[in-house]
Amino acid sequence: MFNLFKKKKEEVKTSQFLPLKVREVVRETADTVSLYFEQPEPYLDYKPGQFLTIVMEFDGKEQRRSYSLCTSPFVDPFPGISVKRVPGGLFSNFLAGKIFPGKTINVLRPLGNFTTEFHSKNKRHFFLVAGGSGITPMMGILKSALINEPESKVTLLYSSRNQDQIIFKKTLEELESKNPDRLKVIHNLSQPSAGWMGLKGRLVKETVLVLAAKAEDETDFEKVYFICGPEGIMDSAVSALESLNVSKDIVHRESFYSAAADKAHEAASKGKITGILTRDVKVILEGEEHLVTVSPDKTILESGLAMDLSMPYSCQSGLCTACRGKLLSGQVKMDEDAGLSEKEIAAGYILCCVSRPLTDDVKVNIE
Ligand code: FES
Repeated sequence: MFNLFKKKKEEVKTSQFLPLKVREVVRETADTVSLYFEQPEPYLDYKPGQFLTIVMEFDGKEQRRSYSLCTSPFVDPFPGISVKRVPGGLFSNFLAGKIFPGKTINVLRPLGNFTTEFHSKNKRHFFLVAGGSGITPMMGILKSALINEPESKVTLLYSSRNQDQIIFKKTLEELESKNPDRLKVIHNLSQPSAGWMGLKGRLVKETVLVLAAKAEDETDFEKVYFICGPEGIMDSAVSALESLNVSKDIVHRESFYSAAADKAHEAASKGKITGILTRDVKVILEGEEHLVTVSPDKTILESGLAMDLSMPYSCQSGLCTACRGKLLSGQVKMDEDAGLSEKEIAAGYILCCVSRPLTDDVKVNIE
């Protein structure tokens, strides 16, 4: 039976949001700032490597963007995110230029699977590959590894454009000198200024391959890989690890952009997705069942939002899992499923932001 007494959208929305007060704005490079927040009450509960989704209104329209936390809950007293200006990007330019201490920002609770559990008994080699602002989640991960796992060590292969573009340069140098045997930072600069003696040029598969092969040769450390950066760097790193037959289970990837989801979205908006019909989908949200009509040009999430349902979401690209639901019946087509683990897919979880109904009996429960 459908519940006719829909909760007011604003009420539900407000309960999803967490207001955070900006405590400090730190300029990291010419185009990147870190925003540190006062601890809310209770303290922000997050894992190293997770991200916050910022919710803001521009021209009366709500927009959401995800930014990785650059802090470690085990080390840093205040949580922070780093924001790199994207040329012409409304959101990043606003955050990086118009936010000052004292301002309050609405966020969604921390999310993301780009993390691991830490234990003092572990003896692991964290092998991190970062490009540009992809360093952000790595900072939380490497600080947490160094403090929580005395037997573990970290290699960070970090690609930036030039010396001035290295985000967290000073912090990394300090951490390296405090942990000379446990943290090794290898910079790769694509366009270094004169005098650079380190790795240079595009970060290619071969570079990752040589370094990761060394790590794989060490038998006394368990390995764990984290990759975050622009698509080219992610591809180089993934393909190097595949060549070394590294198990996918120990390779973590983080990205906020999916070419597959983008392509499907464009095709759908132009009416070019075939085999998808308009169908009614039952969406259970906070225990209430709603009937959502999903046309071929829309996903289940887009259709629900168009009906004013307060369905949770963040990236809208099938990567962050904020919109995750459990399929109770029927079948859907997912444009992208990179955010879900194989276990989650086997258990029937779907991502509503990239799901389109294939049958008439689709019923999904948003937990
Ligand atoms: S909103 Fe991020 S996976 Fe759907």
